[in-house]
Amino acid sequence: MTPEIPLEQLEARIHDVSLDLDPESMRRAGYRVVDWMVQRLAHLRESTLGQELSREETEKLLREALPEEPSNFDQVYDEYTRKVAPNVIQLDHPRFFAFVPSAPNFVSVLADALVAGTNVFAGTWLESSGPSQVELIVLDWFKQMLGLPAEAAGLLVSGGSVANLTALAVARRAVLNDETSDAVVYLSEQTHASIDRGLRLLGIHLRQLRRIPTDPQFRLDTKKLAERIGLDRKAGLRPWVVIANAGTTNTGAIDPMREIAEIAREHSLWMHVDAAYGGFAALTARGRELLAGIERADSVVLDPHKWFYCPFEAGCVIVRNGRLMRETFRILPEYMVDVAREEREVNFCDYGVQLTRSFRALKVWMAVKTFGARRLREVIDQCLDLTAYAVRLFQNSPHLEIATGPSLGIFTFRYVPKKLPDSGTEGEVYLNRLNEALAARIIASRQLMLSSTRLGSCHVLRFCVLNHRTRKEDVREALRLIEQFGQEVERSLA
Ligand SMILES: Cc1ncc(COP(=O)(O)O)c(C=O)c1O
Repeated sequence: MTPEIPLEQLEARIHDVSLDLDPESMRRAGYRVVDWMVQRLAHLRESTLGQELSREETEKLLREALPEEPSNFDQVYDEYTRKVAPNVIQLDHPRFFAFVPSAPNFVSVLADALVAGTNVFAGTWLESSGPSQVELIVLDWFKQMLGLPAEAAGLLVSGGSVANLTALAVARRAVLNDETSDAVVYLSEQTHASIDRGLRLLGIHLRQLRRIPTDPQFRLDTKKLAERIGLDRKAGLRPWVVIANAGTTNTGAIDPMREIAEIAREHSLWMHVDAAYGGFAALTARGRELLAGIERADSVVLDPHKWFYCPFEAGCVIVRNGRLMRETFRILPEYMVDVAREEREVNFCDYGVQLTRSFRALKVWMAVKTFGARRLREVIDQCLDLTAYAVRLFQNSPHLEIATGPSLGIFTFRYVPKKLPDSGTEGEVYLNRLNEALAARIIASRQLMLSSTRLGSCHVLRFCVLNHRTRKEDVREALRLIEQFGQEVERSLA
């Protein structure tokens, strides 16, 4: 044992070191940050989509040894705004139509600042009764939007991937008592890869996955689903979960959830719906119709950081029989006995994998209350209309061919030159090469952002409109640029 240090010496070496800034410096720093964010948003439409540096360039720009000495905030902040912030692609730009766009509203941005500024611990009722109540209310709003019953429970998580994993963990516990060896999962060929990853983490092997083919609209073929379940049953296996998509990432396809629910009921399968991006369409009348059957799900995933205008990170998982979530995740170590009190006090750490968790519900709550559901519904409706509008304009283009959609804010298309190589296969190979090159040309332009994907053997471009600030002129400008770049690429391949 080291000899004990005399008390006076110990006292003498404690100097009240802290990381606090004085109030005036905090205010000044805060105002600078807010001014910068507002300035960026005010000029977003005129700006480019952003930029990307190579790893060599970012190393040169930013690499440094652990700084031992302090700098003042202004210097560090300036370094961030000059060297880091510009080197991103701006997902909230009105001409970002790639992947799944995310365009947060400013109220939710401030909500996140408030949460960070007060460092709420949203894991237990004891430490966050107010925030936990807000989260319960936000979950109730989502449940009502989807038509799920009051006894459903859920929680906000980092995003769709963790939400899918959380739901599947509940399904594993509830249906299989965690015995997975003979369990079988049914999912369409279009299901998001986060489900595959989640299943892998839960100990499900590739041989236990049944990838059910889709119909020409890329929706799960329920006849093939029923057949496959029958075969697995005959083979002595245990059909466990069916995954339905409420908006696939590739094409926005919506699986026939009513029919899937019937099959799930008949065969006692857990029905999980991945509505990560598409689920918020349920706020609109037409979306509710399109998503009919979602209310029969055993679990649903939604991502407020996608089509509900919250900043990253905000995912949500809801389980029909809420009790099962608690049975799956609850642990009670001795150092937590003080928080295990009344049943009515919800400890959100009992509903998922995080103990320490941030107050994500605030950004949803503040936005819904500030704008009202009506305005949110209007912007979601507007996105659906803008997607249909874009499809009409693209259909009228002599160079473009619509491949799928519109469906829940997404359609896919190809650039097709007037003259193609004579043989059919050669033509397809050439078209794929051309559209791959076109996607690369569009991305490099920084004037708009699109992404591409494979549908069967076809390379297509995806166009996804979820941004509340996208306007008709952004769609028209996108079309003009796509046609221009398409012709350039066509000439370069000639
Ligand atoms: C349908 C679907 N599910 C799940 C995810 C994964 O969500 P996250 O990226 O928030 O983890 C995505 C993301 O694009 C998605 O589109």
